[in-house]
Amino acid sequence: MAGTHYICRAAERAGPRLAYTDSRTLANMSTPSQFNPAFEPVPHLDLAAQYAAIGPEIRAAIERVLASQQFVLGREGAALEEEIAALCGVAHGVGVASGTDALILALRACGVQPGDEVLLPPFTFVATGSAVSALGAKPVFADIRPDTYNLDPSELERRVTPRTRAIIVVHLYGLAADMDPILAFAKSRKLPVIEDNAQAIGASYKGHATGSFGEAACISFYPTKNLGAYGDAGMVVTNSSELAARLRSIRNYGQSQKYLSNEPGWNSRLDELQAAVLRVKLRHLSGWQRARRANAAEYTRLLQQMPGVMPPIEPEGLEHVYHQYTIRTEKRDALQQHLATQKIGSTVYYPHPLHLQPLYKSLGHKLGDFPHAERAAQEVLSLPMYPELRKDQITRVVETIASFLKC
Ligand SMILES: Cc1ncc(COP(=O)(O)O)c(C=O)c1O
Repeated sequence: MAGTHYICRAAERAGPRLAYTDSRTLANMSTPSQFNPAFEPVPHLDLAAQYAAIGPEIRAAIERVLASQQFVLGREGAALEEEIAALCGVAHGVGVASGTDALILALRACGVQPGDEVLLPPFTFVATGSAVSALGAKPVFADIRPDTYNLDPSELERRVTPRTRAIIVVHLYGLAADMDPILAFAKSRKLPVIEDNAQAIGASYKGHATGSFGEAACISFYPTKNLGAYGDAGMVVTNSSELAARLRSIRNYGQSQKYLSNEPGWNSRLDELQAAVLRVKLRHLSGWQRARRANAAEYTRLLQQMPGVMPPIEPEGLEHVYHQYTIRTEKRDALQQHLATQKIGSTVYYPHPLHLQPLYKSLGHKLGDFPHAERAAQEVLSLPMYPELRKDQITRVVETIASFLKC
C-alpha cells in the first residue's frame, strides 16, 4: 500500500508525462486522498465494467441453458431471432455463427454467384469485402463521404456495370448510411441492397431502424460490439419469408428437412449459450445506447471548438449509436502515441482501406483511386467509448488531446 501511495504522489509531482499507473494499482487504492482520477488509465473499451453490472443475470441465463442441455437451434436462439427482428423492425431473424457468415450467407441467398460484381465502400472492416470474395464474386469499391465515412451514393452510378449483382452498404461506427438515394439507385437498377449492420444495431435513419432497409441486413455480435456475445455470433434479418427460409437452410448444410439437402450449405448457427447471453444484454441495450449518446455529446461539447480536430457528425434525422466515437486529425499517429503514454486507449478503424490491402492486389488499385477512404485511413482515431465511461474520464481524454495539440 505504501508503495502505491508513493507511485501516485510521485506521478502528481512529476506532472502529466509520468502521470499514470496501472489499473491493478488503482484498484488497490482505497481512500479518496490516494485516488487521483487525473492519472487513471482510460481503456478504449471496458467490458469488465459491463460484466460487473450484469454478471448475476448472465450466470443465471447460462445456467438455464446448461440445465436444458440443448445447445444448438433451440429455444434461446429462436427467441433471440424474434427479439432482434423486432428491434430492427423486420419480420425474420436467422442466427448464424458470426457477422462475416451473415454477410456470406445473405449474399448467397440474394443470388450472388462466382464472377458477379458487388458494390461496397473500401473504408470498412475487411470482412465486408472478404464475404464477397468467399463466394468467388468481385468486390467493386465506391468511395465514401468524408464527413460521415459512409458510402457516397453519387459514387454508385460511376462504379456500376452490367455484371453488378448487389450493393453492400455499411453503417460504419454506428451511423446509418444515406439510405434514400442508395435505395433509389438500387431500385432503378433492380439490385438488392444488403446492409452491413455489424456496428450499428439500434441506430436509425429518418425514424426507421438500420437493418430494415435492405433485402437483408447482417449483424455481428462479436464481443466488442454494442450488443456483444461471449464469443462469435451473428444474425441476418429480413422481411422476406423466402429469403429467411433459404438462409435457415444454408446455415444448416443446405437441408430442407432432416438429412435432405437441396444445395451445398454451411454449418453456421448461433448457439444457445451465446443466444442466452445476448438476450440478457438485449434488455440493457437501449439504456447503454442512451449512455453512449450522452458520452458522445459530452465529447463533442468539449471538442467542437478545438482547432485541428473534427468530431463525428450526426446528420439531421439520423440517430448515431456511437459504436465508436471517431475524431479526425492530421496529427493522428502522434496523437495516438501521446494518448498511449498517458494510458489512454484509442484505436484506428481502419488504417488500410480495402482497395490497398494485399488481399486485393490482383484488383490493380493504386493510391489515389479512392481519396476520401485513403484520407480517412490516415486521419481517423476512435477514442474511449462505452456506456460506463465517466464524465471525468472524458474530461481527462479531451484535456490530454488539447495539451498535445497545443505543442
Ligand atoms: C463493418 C463490419 N463488418 C463485418 C464484421 C464481421 O463480423 P464478425 O467479426 O462477427 O465476423 C465486422 C466486425 O467485426 C464489422 O465491423
